[in-house]
Amino acid sequence: MTTTGANSSLALPVLDDALDARLRASLTLVEERLEREVTSVAPFVTEAARHLLRAGGKRFRPALVLLAAEAGDASLPGVITSACVVELTHLASLYHDDVMDEAALRRGAESANSRWDNHVAILTGDFLFSKSSELTATLGADAVRIQAETFTKLVEGQILETIKPESDPLAHYLRVVQGKTGSLIATSARYGARFSGCSREVEEALTAYGERVGVAFQLSDDILDIGSDSSESGKTPGTDLREGVPTLPVLMAQRSTDPSDARLLELLAGDLDDDTRLTETLGLLRKHPAMDEARGYVLDIATEAQELLTALPEGPVREALDAFAVLIATRSA
Ligand code: FPP
Ligand code: MG
Repeated sequence: MTTTGANSSLALPVLDDALDARLRASLTLVEERLEREVTSVAPFVTEAARHLLRAGGKRFRPALVLLAAEAGDASLPGVITSACVVELTHLASLYHDDVMDEAALRRGAESANSRWDNHVAILTGDFLFSKSSELTATLGADAVRIQAETFTKLVEGQILETIKPESDPLAHYLRVVQGKTGSLIATSARYGARFSGCSREVEEALTAYGERVGVAFQLSDDILDIGSDSSESGKTPGTDLREGVPTLPVLMAQRSTDPSDARLLELLAGDLDDDTRLTETLGLLRKHPAMDEARGYVLDIATEAQELLTALPEGPVREALDAFAVLIATRSA
């Protein structure tokens, strides 16, 4: 199996050489286009917008647009454009997210809020979101509507994350994840299908697949926030805990009635904006069975994604999408 990706640590698992070559070529076109799109008349804005674009990233969303487009005619022009739209939207949201998280690191580089300040980070996010909207407008009114609906869900998910759950914390958290991450990844798969001329049935199946893959992607990100160090993730571990966001492994650990978990539960109930307490919590969580329980949960979601692929004909594209879902659920970076 070879892997395809312009500068990614999460590459597409592709078994077919011709498909692999097409995806590589298209990802290069996406990179070139993204570079052009983040150029502003103001050199400082270009510098700030390029900062995280050039820092790397997995290009997971554009890769999914391109792969989904292989179910139709991937050479149609809306495919590359929509791949850029989803990456620019995602990039914009990262500038804002790092302000909300007070994050120092992103994609292995200094976050924009850390390199400059919150004002620069927020306005650069706005600039990138505007660029994404300009590009969406070239795809027609339907694309503008889809983009607006997607962004509504994304922001609703992000807001829900900041408020306490009214009832079941896991159900609340899954709504957060479906909104803030599932929505844009579902749209990535939808754009790929739509702009390559797939049937309505295939477009809907791929959108549902993208939503499941997106949820699995975010949940594995949450597991990595606890289980990996910054050399693997390019981010500071424990950010969710420090920010008081109880993610999947934490919610699972909090269900424990085992007396040996008393210290962990006490730490989780308190303020973790303190390095010593945070390090102790991370240590206890890393060896807790909730980590494996969470990994199993994510694998089940990847299986749900795979089952949605029966709407596609058998062949290398379906195989790659199938492997992609598992890769997301088991990723280590
Ligand atoms: C990463 O989640 C963040 C998101 C998936 C979405 C964030 C969305 C916003 C801040 C709204 C953006 C608004 C505009 C106008 C652009 P995470 O914090 O769990 O992941 P991380 O580990 O990558 O930080
Ligand atoms: Mg964050």
